[in-house]
Amino acid sequence: MSDKKAKKSRPSYTEFTLDMFSRSSGKNHSEIKQFNQWRDDIIEADKYTFETPHLTPQTPEISVRRIHGDEHDLVNFSSYNYLGYANHPDVIQAAKDALDAFGLGATGSPLLNGTFDIHKKLEQSLTSFFGQQGYGVSLFSSGYGANIGVVSSYIHKGDYVVLDHSSHASLIDGAVMSQGTIKLFRHNDAEFLERILKRISKENRRVLVCVEGVYSTDGDYGNLKDIVTVTKNYGASILVDEAHSLLIAGATGKGVVEEFDVLADVDLLIGTFSKSFGGIGGCVYAKNDLINYMNYYARSRMFSCALDPAVTGGIIKALELASGTDGDEKRKRIIENADYLRSLLKDKVDIGTSHSWVIPIIFGDERKSLPLGDYLMKKGYDFSIMMFPAVKKNKSIIRAFVTSEHNKKQLEGCAEALIDASKEFNFGI
Ligand SMILES: Cc1ncc(COP(=O)(O)O)c(C=O)c1O
Repeated sequence: MSDKKAKKSRPSYTEFTLDMFSRSSGKNHSEIKQFNQWRDDIIEADKYTFETPHLTPQTPEISVRRIHGDEHDLVNFSSYNYLGYANHPDVIQAAKDALDAFGLGATGSPLLNGTFDIHKKLEQSLTSFFGQQGYGVSLFSSGYGANIGVVSSYIHKGDYVVLDHSSHASLIDGAVMSQGTIKLFRHNDAEFLERILKRISKENRRVLVCVEGVYSTDGDYGNLKDIVTVTKNYGASILVDEAHSLLIAGATGKGVVEEFDVLADVDLLIGTFSKSFGGIGGCVYAKNDLINYMNYYARSRMFSCALDPAVTGGIIKALELASGTDGDEKRKRIIENADYLRSLLKDKVDIGTSHSWVIPIIFGDERKSLPLGDYLMKKGYDFSIMMFPAVKKNKSIIRAFVTSEHNKKQLEGCAEALIDASKEFNFGI
């Protein structure tokens, strides 16, 4: 069959979904070929919005260059730069100073030769930020690495990992790596969790319950008060991933654990530096004996290079700023901004149970994802569009990440673009 004929006979790119290409076709590799055909079709139709290179920092107004070379000025609702520290001048200066002092890369595993004085400083700054005696911090080169390393070194074969149904992929992957038995409980449902714990607690095995401060697809808070109580009642351990909430939630930015006053009961607190800190990397905060153990047994730490020094310097400065009045002002602004955007969207589109600076707009049918992302970009807005497997089948969402740096006009424009899109793509209420 000629190339032209083959193209005519294959379904349009909007009829394909991503999971169609994730099963092996054995030796003939046809899934890889079909995936590339799908990608070529999207590019040819000029609907390709993935990996669009940014020409500017992650500020509320950005410029990007699409795959055919056309440049667009966009209002940015797709970045985790929640508090604007990725491009804060003091953070940039601190990173430059660290670059001058220590060079570009750590060029070694933290346990062997990759630990620098600046890493120790970050560990100490984070430990005193949380402020509990006898606790410490272990650093990882990503938040993903922190979760897989922590879960898989804490849980061994025969133990249990009990995950909220909406858990991030890194917690699920860590649970799979651990070779423990995995149980899932209905999202935020402490009674469901209790039923699981009641059953497995008879076996006298180690049990780790994993939850998040803010859920990155639903945008709601973890039901930490009830979940921590139930977990402790059954003698299990609890991990709280504060990836999307550290420096933002709680009176002083310690996360949702601070807001619900459960920090002292949490066994493992996970943070990422790729979001409110504006850098990259991850950490776990826990009792010192556990930290010492993780430093040796978390494989993603042992077999991966230490955080690069410049980013580490920038993160220390971001933490210093966030711990003071700058952080207080930004925390207030991001919450006001998120509340304002929610008030503009409420009753017009389905925003689920969002309660935070992550606002999902549920549009359902994943085949609309590509045309919708393209439509919004051409209207001048950049959002994060998520489809299966990142969310449930036919529960695709547009995610709007609100930051402390957005202004009223940008928030109003954002709501208008989303409401227009809901009419055009038929997902309004
Ligand atoms: C809840 C959660 N945990 C962990 C991670 C991984 O963090 P990182 O991107 O810093 O590796 C993410 C990333 O988005 C996340 O949403």
